[in-house]
Amino acid sequence: MIEAAGLDSKDGLAYDQAVREALGEKAEQEVSSCETLEALRQLEGALLGKRSRLAQLHQQLGSLDPSERKVLGRLLNERKARLKSLIDTRRAELDRADEQARLAAERMDLTEVIAGRRRGTLHLVSRTQSELEDTFVGMGFTVAEGPEVETDWNNFEALNIPPDHPARGMWDTFYLDVGKPESVLMRTHTSPVQVRLMQSHQPPIYSVMPGRCYRRDTPDARHLSIFHQIEGLVVDTGISFSDLAGTIEAFTTTYFGPSIHSRLRPAYFPFTEPSAEFEITCTICEGQGCRTCSQTGWIELGGCGMVDPEVFASVGIDSEIWTGFAFGFGIDRCAQMRQGIADLRILMENDIRFLEQA
Ligand code: PHE
Repeated sequence: MIEAAGLDSKDGLAYDQAVREALGEKAEQEVSSCETLEALRQLEGALLGKRSRLAQLHQQLGSLDPSERKVLGRLLNERKARLKSLIDTRRAELDRADEQARLAAERMDLTEVIAGRRRGTLHLVSRTQSELEDTFVGMGFTVAEGPEVETDWNNFEALNIPPDHPARGMWDTFYLDVGKPESVLMRTHTSPVQVRLMQSHQPPIYSVMPGRCYRRDTPDARHLSIFHQIEGLVVDTGISFSDLAGTIEAFTTTYFGPSIHSRLRPAYFPFTEPSAEFEITCTICEGQGCRTCSQTGWIELGGCGMVDPEVFASVGIDSEIWTGFAFGFGIDRCAQMRQGIADLRILMENDIRFLEQA
């Protein structure tokens, strides 16, 4: 810093004083206390602009004594440079603060927020599916999955349902316009995953196969045209019908609780022989009889049976060595029964008031 020392004229001393007043500590403080870019811009104009005190001082330099002019010119330039750099620093700080504020203001919250409530949960059907998987995994099963678009062969033929077999009427099918007519379809049940599993794995097999299925059903309180099933398949040596009944009962009490039991009633499926429908104690009345179970105390959950040797033949498993059973039931129906849902269609409607309760 250039000291005033060496100035002896009155003009020189006054000029020195004027520089320090206009561009000295006070101006520096003003710069650092500027709170907005706009205020800083105005201050910069006032301090260093065309009509500033600095500009005047520049002009006055010419009228000073040449020996003093040099010293004072340096003082003026040094002050000016110092202020300029302070202003630049402050501008950068304010710029950064501005950007932070803009980012904060423009931040978009893409999650759906309903004041004071949870932000989102798994759908009841997804939760039911993973609870069912957990239950079966706990019983020693593995979980397998397959595609929703299937061949006619996997969905029907390999399961002992040839073309034109009257049993095809049990599954109203959505066919896709792919390949030969009626050769590709939306799977009508999860049973084709059994076929895939038996083709790709040597027994013993202990697996469950959950997934979405499609049928040309008119939706009503107990049916959906897009629904979910879970299938179970056991293939081993010496598997008997009592293993099937015991597995179903163990699953029922584990999943629904100790007061809910199962029973089997004769039924027909082309891929199992013998076949049965399995029913569980009505969860609404716990077996007492109510409107939901038509006063019987029982509710149908799914189908089951011993794997038909024809099915083993189509996937290349020797039915002289291996026996097995399969079962399948609706995941949506299970959720309906556990939660007491009057009408299944609500599962597909995405009504937030329903989804929140689940
Ligand atoms: N796949 C059958 C259905 O959708 C259910 C079932 C599975 C029956 C396994 C028996 C054995 O109706």
